[in-house]
Amino acid sequence: MTILVAGATGNVGRHVVAHLVDEGQKVRALSRNPLTASLPGAEVVRGDLADPASLESALEGVTALHLINFSGDYEPLETGADIVALARKAGVKRVTVLRGGDKGTVEHALEASDLEWTFIQPVEFMSGVFDWAGSIRDENVVKAPFAQVGSAMVHDGDIGAVIATVLTSGGHGGRTYTLTGPEALTVPGKVAAISQGLGREVSFVELTEAEARQEWKAQGLPDEVIEFFVVAHGNPPEQAYTVLPTVQELLGRPARGLVEFVEAHKDRFD
Ligand SMILES: NC(=O)c1ccc[n+]([C@@H]2O[C@H](COP(=O)([O-])OP(=O)(O)OC[C@H]3O[C@@H](n4cnc5c(N)ncnc54)[C@H](OP(=O)(O)O)[C@@H]3O)[C@@H](O)[C@H]2O)c1
Repeated sequence: MTILVAGATGNVGRHVVAHLVDEGQKVRALSRNPLTASLPGAEVVRGDLADPASLESALEGVTALHLINFSGDYEPLETGADIVALARKAGVKRVTVLRGGDKGTVEHALEASDLEWTFIQPVEFMSGVFDWAGSIRDENVVKAPFAQVGSAMVHDGDIGAVIATVLTSGGHGGRTYTLTGPEALTVPGKVAAISQGLGREVSFVELTEAEARQEWKAQGLPDEVIEFFVVAHGNPPEQAYTVLPTVQELLGRPARGLVEFVEAHKDRFD
C-alpha cells in the first residue's frame, strides 16, 4: 500500500515520514515545493491542499492518507469536502488528521464519510520552543509572558510516531487521540529543561502581557494570531496542562520529555 503524507516537510510530518520509511512502508510525501523538501526514502510529489485538483495524481494508488487541517500560516483549510471526495474516489481507506486548532472542514467531511478516520489532537508541540531559539542563540535568554501557566507539551516525534502507528494498524477508526508529554511545565520549567538539554544556563525574563503583544507585533504576527497566543499561553483550557497516558498506551513506551527534545535539536540553539 502507498501512504500519502501531507504536511510532510513540517515539524511533525518529517517524523511521520521517517517512522513509515523505517518500517519499510511505501511513502509518498506531499509538498508545495518538492524540490526543497529533502525527505530521504519518500517519493516527494507536488500538491497544494488548498487546490484539491492538484492532489489527483498524488492520490493515485494511495490507501492510507495523513492530512493537516491548516493551510499556510494558521489559515483553516476550506477544501476538506473536496479533498475527502477525491480520497474516496482514489480508493483511500484510512485517514489521520493532525488537528491544529478547532475542528475544520476536513474533519467534518471525514465524519460524514465511510472512511476509517482518526483525529490526532496534540496539546502544545515541543517545537514551540524554537520560537525562543533566536534569543537563546544571541543572549542565552528566554523572554515570555504568563510564567506560571503550565503546559503538558508533547514531543513532535511522539506525535509523528502515533500517526505512523495509526496509519499502519487497525482499530483506531472514529477515535480522537489527545496527545501530551510526560509532565506539565511552567515557563521557568521549560527554560530549566532547555538549559539541561543544551548543557548551559539559559535565563528567564518574564514579560507583561502588553510587552509580549508588542514583541509578537514586532515579529509581524497578525492580530488574530496574537489574540490566539494570548489565550493559548495565558488562559489555556484544562486539557493543555493535563497529562494523559495516550502516548504510552499507543506506543508502548513513555512519552519523551523536553530535555530529550532539546538534546536532539541542539543545532537550532547554537
Ligand atoms: N498545537 C500546537 O502547538 C501546534 C503548533 C504548531 C502547529 N500546529 C498545527 O499542526 C500542523 C502541523 O504543524 P507542523 O509544526 O508540523 O508544521 P510546520 O512545521 O508549521 O509546517 C507546515 C506544513 O504544512 C504544509 N502545508 C501548509 N499549507 C499547505 C498547503 N496548502 N498544502 C499542502 N501542504 C501545506 C507545509 O508543506 P510545504 O510547505 O512543504 O508545502 C509543511 O509541511 C499545522 O496544521 C499547525 O496548524 C499546532
